[in-house]
Amino acid sequence: MKVMRLRSALQTAGLALVFLVAGRADNGFAGPASNQQIQAKLTYCKTCHGLSGQGFRGYFPIPRLAGQQTQYIENQLRAFIEHRRTNPVMLNVTHGLRPWMIPVLAGQFKNLHPGPLGGAPKASIAFGRKIFEEGLPDSNVPACFACHGPDAKGHNEIPRLAGQVYWYTVKALTSWTKERGHGSAKDLSAIMVPTTHNLTHSEVEAVAAYLSYLK
Ligand code: HEC
Ligand code: HEC
Repeated sequence: MKVMRLRSALQTAGLALVFLVAGRADNGFAGPASNQQIQAKLTYCKTCHGLSGQGFRGYFPIPRLAGQQTQYIENQLRAFIEHRRTNPVMLNVTHGLRPWMIPVLAGQFKNLHPGPLGGAPKASIAFGRKIFEEGLPDSNVPACFACHGPDAKGHNEIPRLAGQVYWYTVKALTSWTKERGHGSAKDLSAIMVPTTHNLTHSEVEAVAAYLSYLK
C-alpha cells in the first residue's frame, strides 16, 4: 500500500515536471524539442518564401525575407495575428505559431544573402533611384533613404527594401491602407500612409524596380 502511494506520488511529480518543462517551452525555453519545432516551421516558411528566403513570383507575389530586419519580421507576424495586417495566406500560417516561436523565427532570415530575383522592367530604374534618394518634393513624397537607409537595408522596425521582389513591392505600395493598419490602435504602418497616397502608379513601379536590383 505504501509503495503504491509512493509510486503514484512519483508519477504525479513526474507529470508535473513534464507540464513544467512544456510550460517553460511556451515561454521561450530553447530545449532540443523546441529547436526541432522551429526547424520544422522554418522548412514550412521556405516552401513559399524560398530555400534561402529569396522570395518568389507566384500567383501571389511572395516577399523576400533574406536579410530582412528581425524586429520588422516580428512586428509583421504580430500584425497578421492581431488582424492589423490582412492577408489570407499569412493569416493561416501565423495561426499555427505559438507565441514563443515568433521572436525565434523572426531572427532566422537576417543572415541569408541570396542574390535578388530580378526580372523587373529596367526602363525607369534611374527615375526610381532619384525617388529613393531625393523624394518628390512637388508631391510631398519624402526621400525613402531617410528612413530605409542609404543602402535600403533598413534598421530594426524599418524594413530592408534592397532586393525585394518587384511585384511584391508594387502590391505593397498600391494596396497599403487596404491591407495594413487595421484595428483600433494605430501601428507603425501609419508612417507610410501619406507616401503611398502621394506616389502615382508609375512612380511606384519605378522605385520598386530600382529597389529590386539592389544587393
Ligand atoms: C503558403 C505560402 C506561405 C507560407 C508557408 C509562409 N508565407 Fe509568409 N507570406 C506569404 C505571402 C503570400 C506573403 C505576402 C503577404 C502580403 O502580400 O501581404 C507573406 C508575407 C510574409 C511576411 C511579411 C513580409 C514583409 O516584407 O512585410 C512575413 C514576415 C512572413 N511572410 C513570414 C513567414 C514565416 C516566418 C513563415 C513560416 C512560419 C511564412 N511566412 C510562411 C506566403 C507564405
Ligand atoms: C519616415 C520614415 C519613412 C520614410 C521616409 C519611408 N518609409 Fe517606407 N516604411 C517605414 C516604416 C516604419 C515601415 C514599416 C511599417 C510597418 O511596420 O507596418 C515602412 C515600410 C515600407 C514598405 C513595406 C516593406 C515590406 O516588406 O512590406 C515599403 C515597400 C516601403 N516602406 C517603401 C518606401 C518607399 C518607396 C519610400 C520612399 C518613397 C519610403 N518607404 C519612405 C518608414 C519610412
